Amino acid sequence: MARQIRIFDTTLRDGEQAPGASMDMAAKLQLARQLARLNVDVIEAGFPISSPEDFEAVSAIAEETEGPSIAGLSRALPQDIERCWEAVRNAGKPRIHTFIGTSKVHVEKRFGKTEAEVLQMAVDGVALACSLCDDVEFSAEDALRTRLEYLRDVVEATIEAGAKTINIPDTVGYATPWQMYDTISYLFENVPNIDRAVISVHCHDDLGMSVANSLAAVRAGAGQVECTVNGVGERAGNASLEEIVMSLRTRRDEFDADTNIDTREIMTTSRLVSTLTGFVVQPNKAIVGANAFAHEAGIHQHGMIQDRQTYEIMRPEDVGLTESVFTLGPRSGKHGLRARLESLGYQVADEDLAEVYERFVAMADKKKRVYDEDLHVIMRQASTDTVDEFWHLERVQVVTGSSTTPMGLVTLRRNGDTVTAMGTGNGPVDAVYNAILDIVEMELEVADYAVRGITQGRDALGEATVRVRRQDEEAMGQAASLDVIEASAQAFLSAINALLLRDQARRQGEADEDRPDRRAL
Ligand code: KIV
Ligand code: ZN
Repeated sequence: MARQIRIFDTTLRDGEQAPGASMDMAAKLQLARQLARLNVDVIEAGFPISSPEDFEAVSAIAEETEGPSIAGLSRALPQDIERCWEAVRNAGKPRIHTFIGTSKVHVEKRFGKTEAEVLQMAVDGVALACSLCDDVEFSAEDALRTRLEYLRDVVEATIEAGAKTINIPDTVGYATPWQMYDTISYLFENVPNIDRAVISVHCHDDLGMSVANSLAAVRAGAGQVECTVNGVGERAGNASLEEIVMSLRTRRDEFDADTNIDTREIMTTSRLVSTLTGFVVQPNKAIVGANAFAHEAGIHQHGMIQDRQTYEIMRPEDVGLTESVFTLGPRSGKHGLRARLESLGYQVADEDLAEVYERFVAMADKKKRVYDEDLHVIMRQASTDTVDEFWHLERVQVVTGSSTTPMGLVTLRRNGDTVTAMGTGNGPVDAVYNAILDIVEMELEVADYAVRGITQGRDALGEATVRVRRQDEEAMGQAASLDVIEASAQAFLSAINALLLRDQARRQGEADEDRPDRRAL
């Protein structure tokens, strides 16, 4: 009988730490619902003490999501652990995940402490967490650069203190598969109480070995893998959920292990994460890339016609890949629309259906065929229109050509007043951005800008993603439209509005001065 490996999804916590990947509350709830449909065992919903927004998001996910355990992250500090418990306590299955750095550089340089002092902090943190919650996980941050005998002592002591899951993170993506195998094997051989906990692994992809390292840990006996959808995460990202799950399923002969994941939900989840974060999946990405199941070469096509197994080790339908269907068009009704949206993970309240349908009809009239990606965009627009939007785009017009200086004319509305400005620039987008900056009177730098076609055909929707920088602060905006200039202007405005929203929160004293910097993890 194959071992069941638990899948601990950290897309909403470690994944969301990727620069530019932040999601608003509606997006996080939507993703949590989809992760439950994917049937992950644990959803790490956030880091409650890091900001009031994170606390609210973890609390809402804990209250609303059915099925998986809901974990919150906390440093091994009393105020973090108590705040984490407040956020997850209403979940059906709450989990506190507490951690502390155990490698020499963390112990000595980051904390200025001795190994014994850090071990005591870990034990105290776990004991406090266990007094609040039945399900406690402890992570020895930077475990793969931690002295092995010390790691053994930390693992033994935290199991003794009550942790039911012990996570061994390769925080900086430094490990090799054989080092990971040896480390996990060493712990199994040398920690006397190891049978009282599930051993978990959490790998980062700095050297591109995160999936291989996670699988090596499973082979050595790990019973939980921490990962993210599409591999999003800090720096080069985390181990990719879909690659781990499909490797275990496809090579069951090697691992004698499987997961509870409903693999047919993989594609929908991957597309949702891409839409919500704005991170495009590379075409040759394993499992979920556009080309992962495409066969171009004549010899391959010929072989596939004779027997699919010639060039296919997995069936596309097992990961939820179906022919892109366009069952929705101008004549589709509200019921058909709602059913399709539900299958994509959206719950539309009766009172919102009319507005969503209106947007759908407007798009269907212009496009004739409405694809799933279009529906994601409609739903994003519907949710962002209801959040505090300070500046609203009324109109944008450009004059451009090979022998003219590009000019952009923009009209924005705020609190009922409209303001118009004209800008010039090195291209039409630059001209429009200069006009917008003139109106909003802010000094900003564009750190990143990208446009891509997100649907099919010549009338595809163009999606613009912009990251803006104001001194040391960044914000991301994303928008889609049939007109890429309009999408670019909308995306720029959402980034500006995100900064204004933060200013407002600060003014209202909501920002917590003492909160830890998530990027320091
Ligand atoms: O990479 C890491 O070490 C982490 C821990 C907090 C588990 O994300
Ligand atoms: Zn991590």
